[in-house]
Amino acid sequence: MSRRTTGPAIEAEGLTRSFGETRALAGLDLKVPAGAVYGLLGPNGAGKTTAVRVLATLLRPDGGQARVFGHDVVAAADAVRARVSLTGQYASVDEDLTGVENLVLLGRLLGLTKSAARQRAEQLLAAFGLTEAAGRQVKKYSGGMRRRVDIAASILNTPDLLFLDEPTTGLDPRSRNQVWEIVRAVVAHGTTVLLTTQYLDEADKLASRIAVVDHGRVIAEGSPGELKSSVGSGTVHLRLRDADQRPEAERLLQATLGGPVQVEADAVAITARVGGDGSELDASAQAARALGELSRAGIMVDDFSLGQPSLDEVFLALTDRPAVPVTDERDELEAAR
Ligand SMILES: Nc1ncnc2c1ncn2[C@@H]1O[C@H](COP(=O)(O)OP(=O)(O)OP(=O)(O)O)[C@@H](O)[C@H]1O
Ligand SMILES: [Mg+2]
Repeated sequence: MSRRTTGPAIEAEGLTRSFGETRALAGLDLKVPAGAVYGLLGPNGAGKTTAVRVLATLLRPDGGQARVFGHDVVAAADAVRARVSLTGQYASVDEDLTGVENLVLLGRLLGLTKSAARQRAEQLLAAFGLTEAAGRQVKKYSGGMRRRVDIAASILNTPDLLFLDEPTTGLDPRSRNQVWEIVRAVVAHGTTVLLTTQYLDEADKLASRIAVVDHGRVIAEGSPGELKSSVGSGTVHLRLRDADQRPEAERLLQATLGGPVQVEADAVAITARVGGDGSELDASAQAARALGELSRAGIMVDDFSLGQPSLDEVFLALTDRPAVPVTDERDELEAAR
């Protein structure tokens, strides 16, 4: 079968899956074009891992349909498995083996000869900056090294579709950047990546399209830019000279911009949404008008910036609650597993 495909990599309609009383998937629809990173973004418990497990044929849906490169994930699970690979949220390499032993073993399981498996393992370890660590047991790796070896394991045979389930959760910024580079390199080689993440900036940086998942459904879909413009054309951040003038500034911004105005913990800071009111003016013209109003009222502004809304603000606008991962709960959940 040709590796090049014209149709979408994934199509899912109305997927449902419950665990007892919990509806993990509640009618999930998805269309993932081939050849790019597609982000599945949502908070803890949104249903991301469940969706990935269904699409990777590890879990049967209760209802709905899904196809991967045109193959039904239930009726043609073998054909799907031949084209996909998964790096799970909870990694699957053998802790007691060394990095190179893990990759050689997995290569052998995929049917490579001993020397081909060895060669591929060394090539991947080098590409992922793990040559020095190759002979060490994986349980002695840092979190970042561990994630890299996980991803290396899942691209041994260059899958057409790679599922990456929260590949950077718990990593420091430097390791996250390394994983992002790897994801970009994988896509450059023609693999489609379905990436789940709770990090809005990660989806923003890597994905060409994003589905926002909440309570087992997609509540918004589009390019990062489309999602951002759906909540307004920008956000102004202001710092005032005098904290006492903040209530008046808040009132004026509300009146001129029409969108929600937020006061920050910092007593002189204010954030206001621009362009959410259907106004004809573009964001910078509206922001300029607002600044003019503040100046006329004698309110001194020390610092001003106009930026695109962040995906955090998108999530807040869509769900009325922030998308901040609840770290403590997550640790408890992991401890309970
Ligand atoms: N095997 C299972 N048994 C029981 N409940 C489950 C199981 N797997 C998932 N769930 C429940 O289904 C819901 C969706 O879980 P899922 O793991 O898909 O979420 P997620 O979006 O991946 O969350 P996270 O960001 O925390 O990984 C949650 O309420 C979860 O507790
Ligand atoms: Mg998950």
